[in-house]
Amino acid sequence: MSKHLKSSRISVPDIRARKGHEKIVCLTAYTAPMAAILDPHVDLILVGDTVGMVFHGLPSTVGVTLDMMIMHGKAVMRGASHALVVVDMPFGTYESSPQQAFESAARIMAETGCQAVKVEACEGIAETVAFLSGRGIPVVGHVGLRPQAINIDGGFKTKGRTADERARVLTEAHAVAEAGAFSIVVEGVASDLADQITNEIPVPTIGIGASPKCDGQILVTDDMIGLFEWTPKFVRRYADLRTTISNAVGEYANDVRSGQFPGPAEIYTLKVG
Ligand code: KIV
Repeated sequence: MSKHLKSSRISVPDIRARKGHEKIVCLTAYTAPMAAILDPHVDLILVGDTVGMVFHGLPSTVGVTLDMMIMHGKAVMRGASHALVVVDMPFGTYESSPQQAFESAARIMAETGCQAVKVEACEGIAETVAFLSGRGIPVVGHVGLRPQAINIDGGFKTKGRTADERARVLTEAHAVAEAGAFSIVVEGVASDLADQITNEIPVPTIGIGASPKCDGQILVTDDMIGLFEWTPKFVRRYADLRTTISNAVGEYANDVRSGQFPGPAEIYTLKVG
């Protein structure tokens, strides 16, 4: 086998095979340096469309474009050589027909080199997942709180408050799994509903604001490392980088203003030859 065909990267079947026995560790990344930091620790890196809010300062994920996802997907692929890389399909690039979804997903796969795409559950999504999976595009589904539906829901609302809502989320999870999704992100749902989905569907669930019983967990890395003042209830902060960065920048500003930076060790003294 050619050296180029060998890969130590985690594959779609590897992730699928983890169902029920080995937890799947997932985080988001949008840049090559962050992907390189995460890569030795995680199984799956999601180039999430949260990039619109976290990186570009948009009010929601609705304004994210295919070109933005492809640019960030390429950057993450340059930084990660071990984790499976999944790129989100942004709003408006897959919902109108399976053919539209295939064209968008094929561009993402071919131009970034990522291993899979993710789609949020919406009208007709099962047909689209089957269409993509049948044509060589591995798909992760996303049920529960669907950030791209923020304008229908009137905000980022947790799901599972009514029997109808619970039934809808459960039905979507089954439909997406039966259509061929190899994993499903379950976001912002009552924990017992996440448990039921995890127990009933044959593919791994990846929880975010869901339940510890999901087959894996994902967080937005920038939330988890404390880059924002506010984070949702379900985020555990493992670092306070906002304070660390602010303190570092404050010290740098003082040193520049007082003439203490650059010091003797930080300048070039070159002999004229
Ligand atoms: O876009 C994203 O980052 C996501 C995660 C929150 C799961 O979909």
